[in-house]
Amino acid sequence: MAIKFRSGEKIPMEMHKVRIVQKLNLLPVDERVRAIEEAGNNTFLLKNRDVFLDMLTDSGVNAMSQEQSAAMMCVDDAYAGSETFYRLEKALNDVFGMAYFLPAHQGRACEHIISKCFVKPGQVALMNYHFTTTKAHIMQCGGTVIEVVSKEGLKVKGDAPFKGNLDIDRLKSEIAAVGAKNVAFVRVEAGTNLIGGQPVSVANMREAAKVAKENGILTVFDASLLSDNLYFIKMREAEFKNKTLNEITLELGKLFDITYFSARKLGCVRGGGILVNREDLYEEMKPLVPLYEGFLTYGGMSVREMEALAVGVKEGLDMHVIEQTPLFVEALSDELIKAGVPVVTPAGGLGCHIDAEAFCAHLPKSEYQSGALAVAMYIASGVRGMERGTLSEVRNKDGTEHYAEMELLRLAVPKRVFTLSQLKYVADRLIWLYENRTLIGGLEFTYEPKILRFFFGKLKPRSHWMHTLAGKFKADFGDSL
Ligand code: F0G
Repeated sequence: MAIKFRSGEKIPMEMHKVRIVQKLNLLPVDERVRAIEEAGNNTFLLKNRDVFLDMLTDSGVNAMSQEQSAAMMCVDDAYAGSETFYRLEKALNDVFGMAYFLPAHQGRACEHIISKCFVKPGQVALMNYHFTTTKAHIMQCGGTVIEVVSKEGLKVKGDAPFKGNLDIDRLKSEIAAVGAKNVAFVRVEAGTNLIGGQPVSVANMREAAKVAKENGILTVFDASLLSDNLYFIKMREAEFKNKTLNEITLELGKLFDITYFSARKLGCVRGGGILVNREDLYEEMKPLVPLYEGFLTYGGMSVREMEALAVGVKEGLDMHVIEQTPLFVEALSDELIKAGVPVVTPAGGLGCHIDAEAFCAHLPKSEYQSGALAVAMYIASGVRGMERGTLSEVRNKDGTEHYAEMELLRLAVPKRVFTLSQLKYVADRLIWLYENRTLIGGLEFTYEPKILRFFFGKLKPRSHWMHTLAGKFKADFGDSL
């Protein structure tokens, strides 16, 4: 909740209290250099014991409520037909109002099943913007992705309230150009992951679904990041100002043939699921669940996670539960903007997104600006962020680099995990890094995997810059970590 202080300053007040904690460790700067070198200069390969604030992602690391923990103790453990499954199915139906539910172990497992069933070789999937695993699954099935996000969505700075919206005219013209029968589906990701956690409006989703339906094209909704998106719909879309969050999700549930989600994000647990409105689509996907995931009434999830998810999706309809991430992202972004640090605006959901292209303008794109900034941020603070730029892309067929539309460092803000003083520390160290940005050097691959290379890829610095940066840190901060 935004609370006003006497000075007029607004604070994103935490509407929860901490009852179970995990100790943190902040290594001295020289050890941070050693740890990131050992990790091949890829924050995915750091050991969590070497990380102070883990802002890699919110996936599977959001804080659970005591009600979720309690629900995990009371389960019906059965391979088939467990009561836990029916409780989860009912909870999802209460929230989305969709007819059928298929469980899966996480979001990409849903993408695997959906792509296997509905992407034929040579087809295209039209969407506002891709996510890494989504695109990989579509490509594995011989499909390609065409993005039709609004023009504002691809600009780092802006003030459009829904930068994740689809450009409806482009959607129509792309359908006309490739032919409706060559379109596997129209997919809406709300909010967008790779372009700054930017939301999509209900009005836009309605229009996109209408265009798809008029052309007889399947509609798919990725609701993994829906919590933040719901917050923005409620705050920014006039039509929904006085609607409850449940009324809004029920409205969304009606729009799409298929909705899927990563429950590592939506629902604050570890799992996933596909919701379906049409029986024929449900029947087509159903056999793949026992084949790839597990029996139809658990789909690779543990019954404990399923019980916690049943509680978590309902808690996600409470504004005090879903607002903390977007309010913290806004507070962090505002602090950085005041100091001139380039960030994606308006502040979105998921995390604070730093514009690495502007931050590291002295480096060429070929030296992976976002990856270099992620390494530099870890050295400067022990904070682990995630590269969301060219390293997360796929090379062109001829082997040349495919430069990302945005070079971002994402500092994820998992739900209800961090405190305001930790956020202030992140801002302080990032501002210091910005003042010393010319010390950041480039990276090059020493090992480059073929699929999803950002997960396991290893890189080396192109000069001695990491040690120079650590030296400057010690000169400026002395004894302080
Ligand atoms: N769709 C979106 C929009 C996502 O953000 C993610 C995951 C997935 C699908 C895949 O779900 O991880 O459960 O298999 N995003 C994570 C992240 C990995 O860090 O942003 P998953």
